[in-house]
Amino acid sequence: DIIPVVLCGGSGTRLWPRSRKTMPKPFLPLVGDSTLFTATVLRCDKGEGFGDPVIVTGAAHLDHVEAQLPDREHTQIIVEPEGKNTAAAIALAALRLPEDAVMLVCPSDHHIGDCAAFQAAARAAASLASQGWLVSFGIAPTAPETGFGYLRHGEAIEGTGGMKVAQFVEKPNLERAIEFLASGDYSWNGGIFAFRAGTFLDELKAHRPAIHDAVKASVDKGAADGMRFHPDAGAFALIESESVDYAVMENTSRAAMVPAVMAWSDIGNWQALHDALDRDEDGNAVMGRAELKDCRNVLVHTDGPRVNVVGASNLIVVVDKDEVLVCTPEGAQLVGKLSGAANQ
Ligand code: GDD
Ligand code: MG
Repeated sequence: DIIPVVLCGGSGTRLWPRSRKTMPKPFLPLVGDSTLFTATVLRCDKGEGFGDPVIVTGAAHLDHVEAQLPDREHTQIIVEPEGKNTAAAIALAALRLPEDAVMLVCPSDHHIGDCAAFQAAARAAASLASQGWLVSFGIAPTAPETGFGYLRHGEAIEGTGGMKVAQFVEKPNLERAIEFLASGDYSWNGGIFAFRAGTFLDELKAHRPAIHDAVKASVDKGAADGMRFHPDAGAFALIESESVDYAVMENTSRAAMVPAVMAWSDIGNWQALHDALDRDEDGNAVMGRAELKDCRNVLVHTDGPRVNVVGASNLIVVVDKDEVLVCTPEGAQLVGKLSGAANQ
């Protein structure tokens, strides 16, 4: 079976004011009725070949996770005492699983429009993973984004639909990102990975022995409580914080990718959300109560008050409790810099 390992930690500031420290992006109903977290779990649910998921989350988010889990009885939850980034989060899950288990690491901050395509890519990735590869989902890039990892295409791996990753570059600067895009030789790293638990731990030990040993110590001294597992907080505090992309994927020689065409969006800001939503013929999208007259490309997201907009184009209006955000598509990138978002 493929074991979905769902990561949720961190907090997005660019989706402020809906996304806040106490209620970060994965737990909000941003697209349709379900939250990104619930949608991530359901995306793997009942798919042929998928097993029960493991969730790795921070103690601060445990209540949200338990409230939003579709099936609490069959879901293991690993509770981090504090956030130590994704290398440690994935290692925790790997250490709690059999060496041969194929893990499908899923971030919970994405929207994926085509679930069947996701599952097909996951099965292709799992078959490569069982041969010892560390597999990324490759997304066709559409802009020189600097917030993503880039995968340089290597030779095809016969009979799998996948290929080797010749080079993994996490978050390049703009100059390099423009080069990568123009060359046509790169995909974005979708942030979804498949590997055998044992393969991942071997590679982590090879490239970041200190992280490996510290996570292992926290698991060895940890305690199970029903379906929950608590790594030892004292040992966990000593772990160096680093993302899996820098710690393992940039360094391993066993990186591969499967191309995934699945209407993927990381919903990194309000404009990205607008792009992922179904719009009407004028390009408007509304979540919550609103009236729009003579508007084009307007996004309204409100949790209560009715929002009324007349004669506007290219505008984003977000209402959340006591805060209102009005911005242009270009301004959406800068929302995290507002004092309300930065000092929440
Ligand atoms: N449990 C846990 N603990 N989860 C965490 C932690 C942690 O300490 N830190 C981050 N996460 C979760 C986030 O909630 C998210 O779902 C996922 O791990 C990825 O972390 P991000 O912080 O969102 O990473 P990123 O978006 O900057 O970059 C990654 O994703 C991009 C695609 O969206 C990288 O893998 C990039 O290469 C990739 O392009
Ligand atoms: Mg992210």
